Amino acid sequence: MTDIRSRALTAAGYPRGFKWGVSTSSYQIEGGHDADGRLPSIWDTRCRMQGKIANGDTGDVACDHYHRYPEDIALMKALGLDVYRFSVAWPRILPKGKGRVNEKGLDFYDRLIDGVLEAGIEPWLCLYHWDLPQALDDLGGWPARESAGWFADYAAVCCRRYGDRVKHWATFNEFAVFTLFGYCIDWSAPGVTDREAHLKAIHHANLAHGMGVDVIRDLVPGASIGAVHNRQVVWPEKDTDADRRAAALLDAHWNKAFPDPQLLGHYPDLIAETIAPYVQAGDMAQICRRIDWFGLNHYGPIFARDEPTATWGFHWGAAPDDADKSDIGWPIWPAAFRDELIDLTRTYKLPIYVTENGMGGNDKVDDKGEVNDATRIRYLTLYTDAMKEAIAAGADVRGYYVWSLLDNFEWGTGYQNRFGLVHVDYETLKRTPKASYAWFRDAIAAARKAEAAV
Ligand code: FCB
Repeated sequence: MTDIRSRALTAAGYPRGFKWGVSTSSYQIEGGHDADGRLPSIWDTRCRMQGKIANGDTGDVACDHYHRYPEDIALMKALGLDVYRFSVAWPRILPKGKGRVNEKGLDFYDRLIDGVLEAGIEPWLCLYHWDLPQALDDLGGWPARESAGWFADYAAVCCRRYGDRVKHWATFNEFAVFTLFGYCIDWSAPGVTDREAHLKAIHHANLAHGMGVDVIRDLVPGASIGAVHNRQVVWPEKDTDADRRAAALLDAHWNKAFPDPQLLGHYPDLIAETIAPYVQAGDMAQICRRIDWFGLNHYGPIFARDEPTATWGFHWGAAPDDADKSDIGWPIWPAAFRDELIDLTRTYKLPIYVTENGMGGNDKVDDKGEVNDATRIRYLTLYTDAMKEAIAAGADVRGYYVWSLLDNFEWGTGYQNRFGLVHVDYETLKRTPKASYAWFRDAIAAARKAEAAV
């Protein structure tokens, strides 16, 4: 564990060079679903299936960031950010997933990256935030072993094009979420519920990560490479043996099935035997490649309950009735965040960037045209305070990126859950910075001032 006594902290409680940022993802903000040659992803398909997304919402227009990105970059600049973490839409670059490259799709991210750099912000590029080209799902998607190669080829196209300007690369966002929800629970595209498909998807996403790391290392001189994992403590809904078993298995899938093989070279015990038939000789070495940082997405603890009819016998449980909760019902538990950061430093021994943290609310513009999201300010204050406690206890945290810059399309619940520092009116697409935007701008400025004083 990093020895905190050897690292000077500023009066604000952060190590020097701490980075402040925001995160977004392509499908959730871009819109332009059929602009300039983009073809459907598995999320376009899912949004067209009846009953899958609240209110029948789709990402067709979303925040129209595809056309309004200069305005969004200006909002980031005024926040005083160090970092913008965004994802590239695979079906814009390779509309059919492989083969023909779409120049106009590549051009969009050229413009975006150049604009972000001109604003004095570091672009952090995430290659995969769940929008797999539909054409690849038609060929078998992540359960097909070839998917790892498709991903590596796509990564190479991005590296060749953007590697001169982008130095921070993440292979994937939240492997556990898109595999568990996509192939086991049907809360995500493509909505399969099948043990074998799920196990194969896990293993092939891990392989794709390792192959992607090699591609980035080869093609981007000086690249800083990471992967973004969701990690949240899993507690049993009830204090019973059955719920404890459910929580342990969900924990293995949610928290360990990806970072363990990628960073420790083995699957967690509870999964190792079931996944073994899909692991070929040499796979573990290909998966476990050196990377430079651990991206942590964290919102709150999760709960598990025994559910014998579910794919693996567990299901999402409910948080205790008396738990502190956000407007959208997610538990607010800053101590779990603090403990997670400390545990991560011990377990994986990599610098940590908090690549997502934030709160879903029902924010509304008031009569004065303002959005007073006091509950989000409270959440962000509690969580950044918990992060500082973790840093003081030795956690090697190097940056904190809020989810999200803008209100956007939220998987499953569509536009009803607002996570932005900036409110988006989905009729007019008008952007209105919320009170939390000013809070974050001031928090960044205060941290910088304390750093300058060291
Ligand atoms: C994370 C996702 C992100 C967003 C937030 C609220 O799991 O990475 O896309 O949906 O949750």
